[in-house]
Amino acid sequence: MTTTTATTGRPGLDDRDDLADLDGSVRGNPAAHRVLTGDRPTGPLHLGHYFGSLRNRVRLQRLGVEMLLVIPDYQVITDRDIADRLAEHTENLVLDYLATGIDADRATIFTHSSVPALNQLLLPFLSLVSVAELHRNPTVKDEIAHSSQAAVNGLMLTYPVHQAADILFCKADLVPVGKDQLPHLEVARTVARRFNERYPRPDGTTVFPRPRALLGAAPLLLGTDGGKMSKSRGNSIPLGADEDTTARLLKGAKTDADRRIGYDPAGRPEVSNLLLLAALCQDRTPEEVAEEIGDGGAAALKRTVTEAVNEYFRPIRARRAELAADRGHLREVLRAGAERANAIADATLAEVREVMGSL
Ligand code: TRP
Repeated sequence: MTTTTATTGRPGLDDRDDLADLDGSVRGNPAAHRVLTGDRPTGPLHLGHYFGSLRNRVRLQRLGVEMLLVIPDYQVITDRDIADRLAEHTENLVLDYLATGIDADRATIFTHSSVPALNQLLLPFLSLVSVAELHRNPTVKDEIAHSSQAAVNGLMLTYPVHQAADILFCKADLVPVGKDQLPHLEVARTVARRFNERYPRPDGTTVFPRPRALLGAAPLLLGTDGGKMSKSRGNSIPLGADEDTTARLLKGAKTDADRRIGYDPAGRPEVSNLLLLAALCQDRTPEEVAEEIGDGGAAALKRTVTEAVNEYFRPIRARRAELAADRGHLREVLRAGAERANAIADATLAEVREVMGSL
């Protein structure tokens, strides 16, 4: 079903359901959409990020969808006292984006802290949510549980609203995220709805569209210890790792003692995860990979996976190394992105101030 949103005038999506269907709505009319997503600059991106989201972003961009990538540097200090090696992590994110195929001429890549008007939206937005709602947010609760800080700071509590500003400043209608981020998207939708209700334009149109989550059919990769692959758990294989490091990390991956290799995600999660990783790299099914290894055991499985990963990422890593040699170019991408993002944010803030009646 297609409706036209009064806010953007673009053919939009029915905003009653909050999950977008990639193939249905995006393929039909890519130019009608604007995607915003981002990654905190806390460490190198890994294979889980790649198969879980980066690859999908590149696909969306190639379909012709406009893409904005926020590097939320202010979000780093929600769960730690200071942002460690912030400039380095930020440049490395740009490097990973470009190396995996994001086209910087068409995408807008920028940091939170370089777009003042985006951050200013936080003030009116905070007035639209109750303190009880902030305390109830399940993702915030989970992040507080994993935080290394002794006390929860105010930025942590309000960061879903800050994230709403990330999404709404550019009126993005699609937000590719993992399941864990759905409560945040709900906050962005609530903020948009309440703002529109409280501050309609005189002609009855509204300022903000209601963004929707784009949940890809992304596979969830486990880390080498069998837990969720995570930057902070020391169990990930970074995108930019060299071939020897990849081999060493995979050699240390947890498996089991059954020599017969088979794909059984519930019964044998670690072995199945390695099969899935090889399959993703080789564009095959995990069952096919298992069949080929037969009763070669964990050693053969690891050899296969290592080769598959190194083969798949060879061109990406070569491009990454080339790009890494020119830090000036990475900074220029961020500068150009900030310029575009500031123009968008200034325009949105002007609309917000106007409907609120600010002088
Ligand atoms: N909070 C997200 C994460 O931890 C990162 C993020 C910040 C984000 N702003 C965003 C994601 C806006 C999507 C949209 O991964």
